[in-house]
Amino acid sequence: MSAFIVLGAQWGDEGKGKMTDYLAEKADVVVRFQGGNNAGHTVEVGEKQYKLHLIPSGILYPEKLNVIGNGVVVDPKALLDEIDYLEGLGVKVTPKNLIISDRAHLIMPYHKALDKAKEQARGKNDIGTTGKGIGPCYTDKAERCGIRVCDLMHTEVFKEKLQENINAKNSVLSKLYNAETFDFDEVCKEYIAYGERLRPYVQDISVNVYNQIKAGKNVLFEGAQGTLLDIDYGTYPYVTSSNTIAGGVSIGAGIGPTMINSAVGIAKAYTTRVGKGPFPTELLNEMGEHIREKGHEYGVTTGRARRCGWLDAVILKTAARISGLTSFAVTKIDTLAGIDKLKICVGYKFNDKIIDYVPASLEDLALCEPVYEEFDGWDDSVASARSYEELPENAKKYLKRIEELTDTKISIISVGPRRDQTMDVNSL
Ligand code: GDP
Ligand code: IMO
Ligand code: MG
Repeated sequence: MSAFIVLGAQWGDEGKGKMTDYLAEKADVVVRFQGGNNAGHTVEVGEKQYKLHLIPSGILYPEKLNVIGNGVVVDPKALLDEIDYLEGLGVKVTPKNLIISDRAHLIMPYHKALDKAKEQARGKNDIGTTGKGIGPCYTDKAERCGIRVCDLMHTEVFKEKLQENINAKNSVLSKLYNAETFDFDEVCKEYIAYGERLRPYVQDISVNVYNQIKAGKNVLFEGAQGTLLDIDYGTYPYVTSSNTIAGGVSIGAGIGPTMINSAVGIAKAYTTRVGKGPFPTELLNEMGEHIREKGHEYGVTTGRARRCGWLDAVILKTAARISGLTSFAVTKIDTLAGIDKLKICVGYKFNDKIIDYVPASLEDLALCEPVYEEFDGWDDSVASARSYEELPENAKKYLKRIEELTDTKISIISVGPRRDQTMDVNSL
């Protein structure tokens, strides 16, 4: 194991932060390769809880290097606030344990304003974004007018690009959306100050990560969001604006696919989604509410209630295919404890056929009816299991069926939020 990926197999919030922290013990370097501070990754160690948005979840080990890759969109204020938040909790963050790609794009104040204005303009068709400016920042990247971290390191270049952008964005904000505009001098002063604080952290991360892999170090790539929020393979347009799947690693960290050995899909034992969009196995009833309360299913970034539903093996199978998953890590089987009968969606009934993939068109997906298999539940003793043998028999049957349906082994099982509530059952 020298380079491996941890990514979300559903709609995000699968427990990537927890699993990255757990697996980071075996890694030397932890790399974020896409997304931004729309992510909210929770790590619990002992009695302490940490909420991370931009900084990789390896940061709690003092000797590991954490990397913010070129594919990440960086809000410098959010990043500096997160560094201060961690320092306040006694976690040291220095250029020795955190580096930032010079190619990463910067989230600017107008991106956040545009995110909100566009959502408002969409009315009932809004996506339910996190409002962090993610979409508008990636839009500028593709439009080739984005401002990168390396630009911020050259004041004159930064000023020129900012002036052009402020002119264009102010015009759109005021004329199209009747929204507030931005003052060049204010934004410029604010960002140059951020740039000076961030300067020691900035470097070409592709060179660094490549050299680490070549030197035999273990590198963990930490995904944000999840497979069905991927801009190409998710439930478009109810997705985020980056490639959340394994292919995103090569692009977002500048590491070729042949250098990566394995990819672990993090799968919650049931399904959740926050924000709008299709969700075939959603439970709009007391069972959905029960899972939400028992699983504390409220967003780390926005505090919104997460929608809950039965496990959807069609989604997991899709994730395994698209990312070439070598295994799954299944989280939160303790949340399902106490439920008498559980269901897993094993296929979609679509036009009198049973399919095992997620169709591209939302109109087709809306016609898909989940086909369920029923399982007997287990009790709360599951939370104290520390080995596969200690798991209740019914939990084992449920997990075995996930392996069969996805044709992918389970490597890790998580029975609680803390680092120690985790068991290895197979190689990654
Ligand atoms: P991420 O975005 O994928 O990192 O996931 P989040 O942190 O947004 O949400 C996952 C939540 O579940 C967090 O509050 C975790 O502490 C918690 N969690 C992770 N694994 C488990 C588990 O096995 N059992 C329970 N009860 N909670 C878990
Ligand atoms: P982690 O890494 C769950 C969702 C938003 C919205 C859609 C687009 O914690 O799993 P965006 O702000 O990215 O343009 O919003 O994507 N979303 C997430 N849902 N977990 C996340 O991150 C998410 N990041 C974005 O709710 O539906
Ligand atoms: Mg999250």
